[in-house]
Amino acid sequence: MKIITIIGIGNMGRGIAMGLLRKKIVSPSNLILSNRTLSRLKEFKKLGVGVRTDNKTAAQNSGMIILAVKPQVLTAVLKEIKPVISKKQVIISAAAGVTIKTIKKTISHDQPVVRVMPNLGAQVGESMSVWTKSKEVTNRQTKMIKRILKAMGQEHYVSHEKIIDKITAISGSGPAYVFYLAELLEKSGMKLGLNGKLASLLARQTLIGSSKILSSSQKSYKILRKEVTSKGGVTEAAFRVIDDSEFEKIFIKAIRVAHKRAKGLNK
Ligand SMILES: NC(=O)c1ccc[n+]([C@@H]2O[C@H](COP(=O)([O-])OP(=O)(O)OC[C@H]3O[C@@H](n4cnc5c(N)ncnc54)[C@H](OP(=O)(O)O)[C@@H]3O)[C@@H](O)[C@H]2O)c1
Repeated sequence: MKIITIIGIGNMGRGIAMGLLRKKIVSPSNLILSNRTLSRLKEFKKLGVGVRTDNKTAAQNSGMIILAVKPQVLTAVLKEIKPVISKKQVIISAAAGVTIKTIKKTISHDQPVVRVMPNLGAQVGESMSVWTKSKEVTNRQTKMIKRILKAMGQEHYVSHEKIIDKITAISGSGPAYVFYLAELLEKSGMKLGLNGKLASLLARQTLIGSSKILSSSQKSYKILRKEVTSKGGVTEAAFRVIDDSEFEKIFIKAIRVAHKRAKGLNK
């Protein structure tokens, strides 16, 4: 397998790199990681992975170049690597909001480009990665891209790029909403007078258990919720308050604002 380069080894780039190594999609010697600061790359150097702080040398000679830098610096990185890029290399961007058209405008109009929206689950091999591609991506490259994305978790292809901004607001940001729920559970426990350590444990283990049920059950979320909600019981009392509130309306509004923000990142 050809060399794979990842540029930007933060939360997402690290998750992608770990997934590729864990699933042996690429050998450490065929993986090159480039990051602005070297300190983030130390753990990978120990594994025999090629580490760089110069994006240009990192991008040279690799079959796939995965970009996991912030959307605001994506164009600068593309300009930097442009002189060493050929049409045989696929650019895979994980940056929120930035379109294939914008990427091609900087690199070349006939560059094979993939746009993917993964999520933080990549760090544990459980990403939800939704992706699309430009017409220049060959069947062989498509197969390889699927293998790369499968190494990070679940992948789903969409032919309409516009959908990706919606996905960004749902599953891209999704883990943050779930962690927020954990924060709320922890805070509520403390409001009831539980100590912080116990409240935190209750929140964490509740989310872990619920996630495992979701991964093994085919039941709808609503049915699963009903299984905890007995008539006239404790959970039902809580949901009477939630259902009478603006909670659902506010949540959907927040998602709409996130979607708008994702669209606004394309500069
Ligand atoms: N985090 C998520 O849950 C998530 C989900 C879906 C998509 N994404 C997308 O993934 C991308 C990365 O997000 P993130 O959360 O991983 O951000 P992050 O943790 O801030 O990581 C970005 C990394 O890029 C490095 N960097 C910055 N400028 C660079 C340059 N010119 N050349 C090389 N490396 C450079 C940073 O280096 P330093 O060490 O010097 O800061 C940092 O390690 C974003 O475009 C985001 O939209 C993220």
